[in-house]
Amino acid sequence: MKRRRFLALGSSGIGAIFLSQCATVRPQSQPQLQSSRLASETYFSRDGLLELDLDARAQAVSIDGQTAELLSYGGRVPGPVLEVLPGDTVRIRFTNRLAAPTNLHYHGLHVSPEGQADNPFLEIPPNEQFTYEFRLPDDHHSVTAYYHPHLHGYVAQQIFGGLGGMMIVRGALDEIPEIQAAQEEILFLKDFDLSRAVNAPDPYFGVQMPGREGSLLTVNGQVNPSFTISSGGLLRFRIVNASTSRFYRLAFENHPMHLIATDGGAIAQPVELQELLLSPGERAEVLVQGNQEPGQYRLLNLPYQRGGMGMMGGMMGSGSMRGSRSPQQNETTPQHLATLTYSGQVEALTLPQQLLPVEDLPESQTVRQFTLNHGMVPGRGMTFLINGQSFEHGQVDTSVRLNTVEDWDVVNTGVMDHPFHLHTNRFQVISRNGQTVPYRAWKDTILIPTGESARIRVAFKDFPGKTVYHCHILDHEDLGMMGVIEMQA
Ligand code: C2O
Ligand code: CU
Ligand code: CU
Repeated sequence: MKRRRFLALGSSGIGAIFLSQCATVRPQSQPQLQSSRLASETYFSRDGLLELDLDARAQAVSIDGQTAELLSYGGRVPGPVLEVLPGDTVRIRFTNRLAAPTNLHYHGLHVSPEGQADNPFLEIPPNEQFTYEFRLPDDHHSVTAYYHPHLHGYVAQQIFGGLGGMMIVRGALDEIPEIQAAQEEILFLKDFDLSRAVNAPDPYFGVQMPGREGSLLTVNGQVNPSFTISSGGLLRFRIVNASTSRFYRLAFENHPMHLIATDGGAIAQPVELQELLLSPGERAEVLVQGNQEPGQYRLLNLPYQRGGMGMMGGMMGSGSMRGSRSPQQNETTPQHLATLTYSGQVEALTLPQQLLPVEDLPESQTVRQFTLNHGMVPGRGMTFLINGQSFEHGQVDTSVRLNTVEDWDVVNTGVMDHPFHLHTNRFQVISRNGQTVPYRAWKDTILIPTGESARIRVAFKDFPGKTVYHCHILDHEDLGMMGVIEMQA
């Protein structure tokens, strides 16, 4: 086990070189955090500070036996893992070495949306530097988060080109003994199209409408990596759908997953799942037990229909929403993403019974509706809309007050699935299509399939300022499916 992980270091991630230069080890004063820390290239905070230089740049990397130029953070695809604790300060001296402007968003962190913090309105021009600096609240929840570029109009291209990385806030969830005993792994899921130059102009509209997908599927920058599990052992996977548009319907052969956390952190008790659907931007953490015949088992991406403009005809004809074909998603064959390989044996580890309580939010004072659709906008043609509006930089679409609770009804009246994401504040799903959901969970991105709706509840407590909510199919976001929310003190 030790040896495999050591060897894996050299090959983990695309173009991962000189790993030891960037990885710092936690000081001995926090030994309880050592046991399950990740062995991949990770920057850890030290003495309350995570400080690093990071650039975004095009980089020739080897992937699937080929060399391709992709967009990287610090020369890596995916970017390094950034790991922090509640109360830490994050200071990133960021340099834009791309040909286009960019910025950074910290998806899943509950931090200020203003100034040098998680500010989606910043624009960092090519060859300029910007220092991000913000502090996580002392009571920040444990979470698997995701940093990625967020400059409207460039997001799909830059993420599809390779930009993105995992962020981890380690905390109470990680201290549950059964979880601490588990071997921790990451599944950072990203698709690529190596036939397309990263700086090529945006693809034609017919590709942007459904959202661009690539046929090369990678996990942590590798094609079909192997994860070792011992008989009796327990693996904990932190999973991020870091693809621009592709959905993942994940299933391990013969191994159920035990969900322990959703986008917004821990749930109250593990939930056994045969499969897990993650739309872009969604994350999850699962435990997998090594309790089958020793051997090799595949992690599969099962077929999923996420709709498409091709369905408009079908809708008018038969009224069937899911019957017709999406040109983008492989619809009949499961795709092989990674392999679970048995090796060795340990005394059987058990699943935790209890995780962390999920707070009961008070009743809301305000109900709003957000309708997701597409339509014609004068001067822009066919575009994606929220409440009939296309994104306008200077306009505030939703204005809320701090210290209030709101229910949002998000309704998809279009012909494609849309993952709806809110910045800064996580929320709870109250119901789907009018039906109460089976268990409470914190989310920041929720899939609203075509023809469906969900009610989410969000408490606005701290962090005044402006930020955004949008569809996390990033071509849709770039095409206007985003709104501005102002949170007023
Ligand atoms: Cu991960 Cu506004 O996005
Ligand atoms: Cu976000
Ligand atoms: Cu969308």
